[in-house]
Amino acid sequence: KLPTRVTLVEVGPRDGLQNEKTPIATAIKVDLCKQLIEAGIQRLEAAAFVSPKWVPQMADGTDVLAGLKAMPSLNSYKVSYSALVPNLKGMEAAIEAGVQEAVVFTAASEAFTAKNINCTIAESIERFRPVAELARAHNIHLRGSISCALGCPYQGEVPIQSAAEVALRLQDIGVQEFDVADTIGIGTALRVSQVFEAVGKQVGLNRVAGHFHDTYGQALANILAALQLGVSTFHSSIAGLGGCPYAKGATGNVATEDVVYLLHGMGIETGLDLHKLVSTGAWISGTIGKPYGSRSGRALWSR
Ligand code: HMG
Ligand code: MG
Repeated sequence: KLPTRVTLVEVGPRDGLQNEKTPIATAIKVDLCKQLIEAGIQRLEAAAFVSPKWVPQMADGTDVLAGLKAMPSLNSYKVSYSALVPNLKGMEAAIEAGVQEAVVFTAASEAFTAKNINCTIAESIERFRPVAELARAHNIHLRGSISCALGCPYQGEVPIQSAAEVALRLQDIGVQEFDVADTIGIGTALRVSQVFEAVGKQVGLNRVAGHFHDTYGQALANILAALQLGVSTFHSSIAGLGGCPYAKGATGNVATEDVVYLLHGMGIETGLDLHKLVSTGAWISGTIGKPYGSRSGRALWSR
């Protein structure tokens, strides 16, 4: 069932940077996005239109997207930009900024939903209903992110079926793609197969994406487990940047470079240039003062 081609949604500029305490200049974010596009990224999560009081680092989303649109050299690339939108206000800002995809986000755990978006799961779905209508009216592809599908930092164990139940409720209001997230990187391969299979039964695995954080070093194994079910869209973050402000101790997403190394090694196409990704990963890590977090990136960089 292995796919022959996989699409990577690059979430570094959003998930990778949102947790950085020191403000990062808009120009650096734009440059990062530009380099990722030049390396072949076609789906790019560039911003989060959330409350700047909650996540100050994401306050300049409008300017990041404007900076990218103003760059003539990027005109020839076909890129679908996405942004997180927690409510109508966020959706309106995302439309104004000209995104092609919007992401509403909730969780498979009540405790996490309360900490992250200050409401219950049911309230979040109601809040997303008008957001979905607006997305439809503007022909914007709507994704729904489901955090803590493999476990919750506050509640602990999350039942296998929980993500599937939330996916169904998101589908009811018009969500078209389902980002199943291991927010704290706690899942292991067998559980991943079970959770993804359950979600796939409800909404179809061709509309499911895997979003794995690598806190416990399980992300690549978990991606392989999902690949074997036929999942062909994954999220990753350049240099493995990131963490979640509402998930203490969570590290970044799996590094884009490492996923590409895995996929190319298995003969699966990505359309990505690993060497360009590696120079981008090394550059952004140095620029924000982090050790370079991709294992294959470090190996290739020092060669
Ligand atoms: P709230 O305080 O309950 O709601 O926040 P509110 O409506 O009272 O808003 C509070 C203030 O924020 C108000 O300003 C609003 O205007 C403003 P004030 O009147 O006090 O001056 N506000 C906004 N400003 C800009 N854009 C907006 C917006 N909405 C309200 N869209 C809310 C509720 C949902 C807004 C808040 O909790 C929030 O923004 N949460 C976002 C948290 C977040 O971004 N978390 C990280 C992303 S999720 C993630 O990383 C997980 C993921 O990667 C998958 C995984 O790994 O699990 C996707
Ligand atoms: Mg995440």
